[in-house]
Amino acid sequence: MPIVLAACNDADAPEEQRVLEGDAEAGRAAIAEVECGVCHRIPGVAGANGIVGPPLDSFGRRQLIAGVLPNRPGVLVRWVSDAPSLVPNTGMPQMPLDKKQARDVAAYLYTLR
Ligand code: HEC
Repeated sequence: MPIVLAACNDADAPEEQRVLEGDAEAGRAAIAEVECGVCHRIPGVAGANGIVGPPLDSFGRRQLIAGVLPNRPGVLVRWVSDAPSLVPNTGMPQMPLDKKQARDVAAYLYTLR
């Protein structure tokens, strides 16, 4: 797992959670665009109040993703775009995010403290 560098507004996150080249504001926009909020409550994203998946409040303080994976940038970047490749029977679907967008989305989630 490479140690990653801070990008602007995720500077409040602990060092191990800062996402290389992740742009949290762009991530917030991507979350709205692909409608993660259909399934999740996500603070700061208008209309994101779904209850299919867990609420993502304070996600930056969680130790685990989906209760089984370490909450680290490389894992989260992959999770947000292709969760079934990590946990085959998960209810979290593949999402149409490219690599850059996945990093941005992860950066935004780490601002949720
Ligand atoms: C069709 C519904 C659905 C959509 C759309 C969806 N998710 Fe999920 N998500 C889930 C479910 C269900 C889980 C719980 C998975 C598990 O525990 O295996 C989950 C879990 C997660 C987790 C782990 C939460 C935790 O508490 O461990 C994160 C982070 C997450 N989703 C982010 C996103 C993001 C970001 C998007 C948009 C790119 C998104 N999800 C889109 C259903 C969805």
